[in-house]
Amino acid sequence: MCGIVGYVGRRQAQEILLSGLSKLEYRGYDSAGVAIYHENVLSIEKTLGRLKGLEDRLDGQPVQGTIGIGHTRWATHGKPSTENAHPHTDCSGDFVVVHNGIIENYLALREELEAKGHRFVSETDTEVVSHLVEDLFTGDLFTTVLAVIQKMRGAFALGVLSKREPDKLIAVRSHSPLVIGLGEGENFLASDIPAILPYTRDVLILDEGEMAVLTQDGVQCYDLQGQPHGKDVFTVTWDAVAAEKDGYEHYMLKEIHEQPRAVSDTLRGRITEDGRRVILPELAWTSEEIKQFDRIHIVACGTSYHAGLVGKVVIEQLARIPVDVEIASEYRYRDPIVSDRTLVMVISQSGETADTLAALRNAQERGNKVLAITNVVGSSVAREANDVIITWAGPEISVASTKAYTTQLIALYLFSVYLAQAKGTIQGEALATIVQALLELPQKLSEVLDTAPKIEEIAKAFSSWDDAFFLGRGLDYSVALEGALKYKEISYIHAEAYPSGELKHGTLALIVDDVPVVALLTQDALYEKSISNIKEVKARGAHVVAIAWAGDEETQKSVDRVLYVPKTLSFLAPIVLVVPLQLLAYYASVARGNDVDKPRNLAKSVTVE
Ligand code: AGP
Repeated sequence: MCGIVGYVGRRQAQEILLSGLSKLEYRGYDSAGVAIYHENVLSIEKTLGRLKGLEDRLDGQPVQGTIGIGHTRWATHGKPSTENAHPHTDCSGDFVVVHNGIIENYLALREELEAKGHRFVSETDTEVVSHLVEDLFTGDLFTTVLAVIQKMRGAFALGVLSKREPDKLIAVRSHSPLVIGLGEGENFLASDIPAILPYTRDVLILDEGEMAVLTQDGVQCYDLQGQPHGKDVFTVTWDAVAAEKDGYEHYMLKEIHEQPRAVSDTLRGRITEDGRRVILPELAWTSEEIKQFDRIHIVACGTSYHAGLVGKVVIEQLARIPVDVEIASEYRYRDPIVSDRTLVMVISQSGETADTLAALRNAQERGNKVLAITNVVGSSVAREANDVIITWAGPEISVASTKAYTTQLIALYLFSVYLAQAKGTIQGEALATIVQALLELPQKLSEVLDTAPKIEEIAKAFSSWDDAFFLGRGLDYSVALEGALKYKEISYIHAEAYPSGELKHGTLALIVDDVPVVALLTQDALYEKSISNIKEVKARGAHVVAIAWAGDEETQKSVDRVLYVPKTLSFLAPIVLVVPLQLLAYYASVARGNDVDKPRNLAKSVTVE
């Protein structure tokens, strides 16, 4: 997830571009750049690190010009570096591009272009676009960009500027957001509304598959076949701060609702076009290498550890490799029994958690190959691991981890299938069924999010209690652990997850009249046992809310209320099951008047022991 801005008008572009980028840093901040045209010169300035570095550079040496584009980066392809920062240009320097998204077929396109003599200077997928524009330039920028995007596959929001036609900006939206601000004798382009709010509240929100040509005198929208059409102007009523949260009250709620997009992005480019197999281009592992692994250790902290618990069940079920899941702060001080056939996996949203990083280093010192799953390209974990699977959740601002968890699960599902394919433990229609079920998850997540009002109602009732219990068996227990962590870390209510079958060995003593209990019921093979455990707590007066599959008509008979989630494969249940728990925690925290995004005593990344 990156931030794009563009300006064309009568004012100096530099200040407007930098102001816009400052409002989009929440979308990415590992590098930034601008390209501004003035009297046949297209100046490009880019810096590694936060936007402030670029601002300082340009304060010292301002760039003249009344038309330009800018970008703040959240790296997906190519580490954070000045060379990989946007804008990207072509061999001639006549065309510059900024991009948000993922171009799935960039490697094939790059090979074609290099074979024609194009010279690339970055590792990014984006640079392919600027060379394609140069390669296909017909003398008309608009029709050239039309031809370019026909060759591209993936998610892209583009801003294009050329010395050849320096009075216009071309904007393209395909699976990544883009809005246009309408001014008097000036027009604006941005990934999100906050960037243009200081200048105008009148916007055109580009829909999926739309393009636009911006000049200082006006804006014309088109479909991706080049057919022009009109668009209604949307007048923004939000203030700037609310706009950064996309109109949501807190970043956490925004990030919960981003999960369909984040899951879709993390799947993107990792499933074959026929939708039948998983590919992980970032792992150049051979089947022989994969077959030599006889054990996997997954090491992480907090929510990432809970994702690892799900990974254990799925890897063992699909790839039949034994997996141990370890808390990093414990594992790093143990002398674990490993061999050179043990694969160590570390999971970390930030890629900077001290205990997880230490566990990674210890594992490498013992000679183990380390695979990382992280959300931050260029983080310490990403740089030091032997191989990395990046989750494409985009920056996660709220301390409580939500979209990072669901995208970590996606990475673990993809990796499990990748292992199973290599080992032949899953193939044919069984494999295709799993892959299809993965592709359906973004839609199922959207359906779960529609139940938010019901969950808010339950959370308000639960929030008056100082205790809550989350019960489950098998994978439901792994998700119950995540639900309890979410709940306690932002509502400050003591919450405990427990294996349903273990209650009678002690914890049942804590069950009293009306105490809130959340029971998870998606593991079909364990349903009857789970229901009998629920009856144990009901018999002692608990107030039980169950989360079960849509269409389940049995559960309501045994509990006070049922929240339904759309059916999917049992081992994919955690992806849909966790969302009601995230929302329950969120609304309980709001009901208690807490600082949801910055809960007391906690930090977003625990970079100290
Ligand atoms: C998640 O809600 C917590 N804020 C916390 O447990 C977090 O998951 C943990 O600190 C690990 O962080 P990491 O994924 O960045 O390594």
